Amino acid sequence: MADYYKNEDTRDIINSLKVYLANTTIVYYKTHEFHWNVEGASFYTLHIMFEKFYIKLWKSMDETAERIRALGEKVPPSLAELLPQATILENETAPQSQVMAQILRNDYYALAENALKIAALATEKNDLITADMMIQRATFLEKAAWMLYSTIKD
Ligand SMILES: [Fe+2]
Repeated sequence: MADYYKNEDTRDIINSLKVYLANTTIVYYKTHEFHWNVEGASFYTLHIMFEKFYIKLWKSMDETAERIRALGEKVPPSLAELLPQATILENETAPQSQVMAQILRNDYYALAENALKIAALATEKNDLITADMMIQRATFLEKAAWMLYSTIKD
């Protein structure tokens, strides 16, 4: 068993993964909700694009939660416990379609930045499995942000 299990370094990584899981949960729900509520001329394009993204986000929630378990910690048992750890805000209203794409683009960049900070931390602590997982997340999120930007650009 690698030496990063069950020590203070692991605690830092687990705590950062919980924040990442909370952020991903918020962004997952927002993306799925936009998939439901989007309207207008670009309905079909965005409806399908949001679906592709929320499926990826949902899968990444599973991978992040299972990494927390593999590092020896329980995943927060309720949304009431998980979500207050998020640094990305929920959406209060369903905005116009272009604004939806802009909001998600900003969120995906923020989530990519969050993932890359964890990758740097995990690399420093010699947990290359977590680092690799987070780099893969950031790669997807940056690409998704670019696709959203290209969709709404004039
Ligand atoms: Fe659907």
